[in-house]
Amino acid sequence: MAKLAIIYYSSTGTNYKLAKWAEEAAKEAGAEVKVLKVPENAPEEAIEQNPAWKQHLEATKDVPEATNDDLEWADGYIFSVPTRFGNVPGQVKSFLDAAGGLWFQGKLVNKVVSAMSSAQNPHGGQEQTITNLYTTMFHWGAIVATPGYTDNSIFAAGGNPYGTSVTVDGEGNMQEDVEAAVKHQAKRTVDITNRIHNN
Ligand SMILES: Cc1cc2nc3c(=O)[nH]c(=O)nc-3n(C[C@H](O)[C@H](O)[C@H](O)COP(=O)(O)O)c2cc1C
Repeated sequence: MAKLAIIYYSSTGTNYKLAKWAEEAAKEAGAEVKVLKVPENAPEEAIEQNPAWKQHLEATKDVPEATNDDLEWADGYIFSVPTRFGNVPGQVKSFLDAAGGLWFQGKLVNKVVSAMSSAQNPHGGQEQTITNLYTTMFHWGAIVATPGYTDNSIFAAGGNPYGTSVTVDGEGNMQEDVEAAVKHQAKRTVDITNRIHNN
């Protein structure tokens, strides 16, 4: 059974939703799954100024935070992170940088990785965010498993071959129907993880 860590960061709920869809599909595919949030490190006053952010933080307070132990435990990862100026949020960068010790010990080698993203604009940097995250994965010696164009659901979701991505409006409503593409990506990640890790 593949051990899969679905690691997300979300200020206003979009990437949490993507992570939960991925969890559903990965469990269906037989994986042992942990959904984990990247620790929040924004100053209290910034969160206070955005009611949707504050509300989401409260609603997900019981979701366990991702740790280095989780990175070591899992055979594969799915990351779901919003675009911040075409890159991963600082919270995610801090989390990735804190894995330096694991990297040094070679413990991140051959982890299977796939990523998803969201942004407010259809061309707001989703692809760039995903490929920026993959750059870190290349340094880890991880095995990046993109969806490519391996299923019709990818076309219906906007056709991002690097990883499922979605556009959200100012109220947080997803503009494309990406559920099927997320689920396909999750199942594919479990399949590739099983192949690499001989589960
Ligand atoms: C600091 C910051 C930078 C952002 N940069 C972009 C951007 O460059 N392009 C874009 O389309 N959306 C941008 N956004 C919008 C976010 O990507 C959007 O709110 C996010 O995808 C929603 O995901 P979440 O609900 O999981 O937090 C930015 C938001 C913030 C707070």
